[in-house]
Amino acid sequence: MGDFLQVNLKDQVAVVTGATRGIGQSIAEGLAANGAKVACLGTNAERLQQTVTGINQNGGEAVAYLCNVAVTEEVNKAVKEILERFGKVDILVNNAGITRDMLVRRLSDEQWDDVIAINLRGPFLMTRACCEAMRKAKYGRIINITSVSGLQGNAGQSNYSASKAGLVGFTRTVALELANRNITVNAVAPGFIDTDMTAVLSDIVKQVAKDQTPVGRFGQVEDVANAVLFLASDKASFITGQVLPVDGGLTV
Ligand code: NAI
Repeated sequence: MGDFLQVNLKDQVAVVTGATRGIGQSIAEGLAANGAKVACLGTNAERLQQTVTGINQNGGEAVAYLCNVAVTEEVNKAVKEILERFGKVDILVNNAGITRDMLVRRLSDEQWDDVIAINLRGPFLMTRACCEAMRKAKYGRIINITSVSGLQGNAGQSNYSASKAGLVGFTRTVALELANRNITVNAVAPGFIDTDMTAVLSDIVKQVAKDQTPVGRFGQVEDVANAVLFLASDKASFITGQVLPVDGGLTV
């Protein structure tokens, strides 16, 4: 478990997609450490169970839901079960994401479609499924994990960059639609973070990434989780439709 910002999320219900590892796991742990009951969504049953067991063994409360965020029926079923069990959703963190990097001239239809489906359609499906309950409760926090690649170009990531830039547009518009119901919608844009997603990069690419990052290192998953915790808290009630880079100065 990480070193987390302290905010009061007691009795709140949080939903985190892609909670089986990396940033999503840390976000789920941080929310649980602050008193939220956390519904952890993921596609890998074994790893999902590990996340949930870890949280429950540390005094938190988490429940696993197998769910591919790109599939409407799976999303609607998971959110229905969460609402039946907990009665509400206060916080939704759309974290699940993938990369399928390739220069655009060689990018396949499948590489394009898979990334858009998980990174952009997924947050749409999850938001649509959760926002009615938030509207009725007149409270909600939706936090979308975008990327610096959604704010600036990154050669080899046209599909990923388009999905994450799309998520920024989605964030701003949904923020406007839900503002009068006391629901905030924001995005966090990580730079290079030490996770399995970046572990596959070659040593040369990793060194270039570090050189490009003014603080000279990769971020840790807790850096992103703590930004999410702030935006999820009651202290952030006047912030909506915004994108918070957590990138060591990369996009400055
Ligand atoms: P990761 O690859 O370690 O974890 C991604 C998570 O999403 C895993 O739990 C995976 O099982 C889940 N997932 C993948 N497809 C799914 C699906 N169809 N349905 C449900 N869950 C699914 O990645 P990492 O690094 O933890 O990234 C988390 C988020 O942060 C992603 O949205 C990523 O794009 C974003 N991000 C990561 C950066 C980094 O440097 N690691 C930088 C910028 C953004």
